Formats: sequence, C-alpha cells, structure tokens
Amino acid sequence: SDPGLVARAEAAKAALGDRVFVLGHHYQRDEVIRFADVTGDSFKLAREAAARPDAEFIVFCGVHFMAESADILTGDHQRVVLPDLAAGCSMADMAVLGQVETAWDLFTDLGIADSVVPVTYMNSSADIKGFVGRNSGVVCTSSNAKRALTWAFERGEKVFFLPDQHLGRNTAVLEMGFDLDDCVLYDPHKPHGGLTPEQLRDAKMILWRGHCSVHGRFTLDSVREVRERVPGVNVLVHPECRHDVVRAADQVGSTEYIIKALEAAPAGSAWAVGTELNLVRRLALAHPDKQIMFLDRTVCYCSTMNRIDLPHLVWALEELVAGRVPNQITVDPDTAHHARAALDQMLALP
Ligand code: 13P
Ligand code: SF4
Repeated sequence: SDPGLVARAEAAKAALGDRVFVLGHHYQRDEVIRFADVTGDSFKLAREAAARPDAEFIVFCGVHFMAESADILTGDHQRVVLPDLAAGCSMADMAVLGQVETAWDLFTDLGIADSVVPVTYMNSSADIKGFVGRNSGVVCTSSNAKRALTWAFERGEKVFFLPDQHLGRNTAVLEMGFDLDDCVLYDPHKPHGGLTPEQLRDAKMILWRGHCSVHGRFTLDSVREVRERVPGVNVLVHPECRHDVVRAADQVGSTEYIIKALEAAPAGSAWAVGTELNLVRRLALAHPDKQIMFLDRTVCYCSTMNRIDLPHLVWALEELVAGRVPNQITVDPDTAHHARAALDQMLALP
C-alpha cells in the first residue's frame, strides 16, 4: 500500500491516542486490518465495542450493521464512525422491517405468534434487532447460534430465524438434531411467505429467505473437486455456506473459529477454507508450514467489506483529528433501546 497513506494513518492515530479505538473485522483488507487495535468476528467485536467506555471515537472497519450494533452497545458520549457509508451487507438488506412485520401479522392471524421466538443473526439492521427485542427474542452470531437457539426453544415451540436461512438451517439440523422437514423457508416476496397455514403450524424453524452472496458461491462441487485434487485435505467452512456444503465439510465455524483451528493445525496438513478471500489469503501467508487454500478457485471477496480501504480510513482519522466526526452511525433511541435488549440477551447467553 501507498507509503504516504500509511504514514498519514499512523500520524493521525498517534495524534488521537486513546481517544480513538479502531475495530477490524477479519474480512477487512490487509492495508486496513494493520491499523486495527482489535480484530475479531462479529461477536468479539460487539463485546470489544461495549468494553471501551473511555474511547471517544470507535472507528469501525467492517460493515454497517456492525457499526450500528457498536453504537447501540456503547455509551451516549461515544461516537461510532464507519469510514465508508457504502459498506453495507447484502444479506442484512434482505430483511426489511415492514416485511418482517407482515410475516409476524400472519403468525398472529394464524394464532401461532405466541409460540414463536424471533432470533436474528447479527447480520441484520438495527430495525430488525429492535423488532426482535420488542418480541422477547435474541440476537446471535455464527459463534453462538446453537446457544441462542437452545435458549429460544426453552421459551417457545418455534423459532423465526432472520435473515440467514443457511445459518439457521445448519445450526438446527447439523448441531441440534432437527430434521430438514422441521424447517420451512419464508419468502418475503411471496404472499404468505409462499407457505400454507399447515406448513407454518407444523414447522419448528421458520427460516427467512436470506443468504450471503459471498458464501453462497461455494458448492458441493467445490468440496468434491478439492477432495479429488488434494487427497487428505480438511474442508473448513463458515456456517453461512449452503447446507449441502456444510454437511460435506469436516469442520464449520465463525471466522474466529477458523483462525484458531488453523493455528492449532499440525504442520504439513492441508486445508481448504470456505470463507471470504482476504481472510483466507492472510491465513495462508501466516502459516507457510501448512497448505491453506481457498475452497473454490473463483475469487470471492466481500465487495462491501472491501469498500473500507486505506484512503477511506485515512480520511476518517484525519477528519477526527481536525475536530469533525465523519460518517457517524447513529440508531434512534427507541430502536436502540429494544435492539439493546436483544443484544444484551445474546451477551448473557450461558
Ligand atoms: P463472523 O465474523 O461472525 O464469523 O461473521 C462473518 C460475516 O459474514 C460477517 O459479515
Ligand atoms: Fe454480508 Fe456476506 Fe459480506 Fe458478511 S460476507 S458482510 S454476510 S455479504
């Protein structure tokens, strides 16, 4: 990366000192992640944001829903900055509050709403988290989805899982012993979600029809192909991958889990990793004694994560030095109050 920009980022960070805390998600570019005070998966970053009451500014190198969650979890005196406002998440955009309320109205009309506990993946807007909090549900991430579902099934007969159908299905079926038939897919673009009243009454998991466009690119053929090409390879994937891919893999886990699994792996072992490319490339470089490769040979960055680049980070930091707060992410107080209940519930999971 441009040495001039690196020097400017260093100078701006030094000028701000403890007033700024930079969080970096594992999918960020190398040029950005090197300036993060802490790196992590979505769960770890939410906890880190909440644990920094002294930092005036939290610069979130990640995507919009993560910055919103940080704003909800931090104090009123703290300001959260997203270096590029266009860093969204296509999965989070697949669930809009009005659509979710329409689904809930349908459950109410069918007389099942009282037995449904809503659970939303962290990868959702603050509006959706607020809806879940208002209806006594919980947020989860890819590292605690099983615990969140266990908690929810202690409180209701059904779970309404938003917005990632794959994380919901993979957790319920592969980790909790549900049948595929226990899950139905609610399509917000179809009347009644494309489901009959009987299907909704019988289902245990009502999955929102959302997915990650990055992880959706890995297929069962990618797994078969790498197993043929690299005998003995271990296939390690993120739970946002499709069900058949996760079923065919050897291990599944969040980005933090993937990092720890590869750190612990013996020298000489071979790993095909099904997650975002910035992370896989970094891991391959960090462990030259292991053969670490991308699960599919089609290049697969998360385009919105990649929007946070060094020029945007330098701009954001220099604005803060100049006394301005650029791209501040704020959640309205009512939404934040209810979303916080659902996030706190997640942080309190056993
Ligand atoms: P985790 O870092 O929680 O595994 O999430 C991955 C992801 O897709 C974030 O957008
Ligand atoms: Fe969203 Fe997928 Fe990118 Fe994560 S990797 S931010 S889920 S689009």
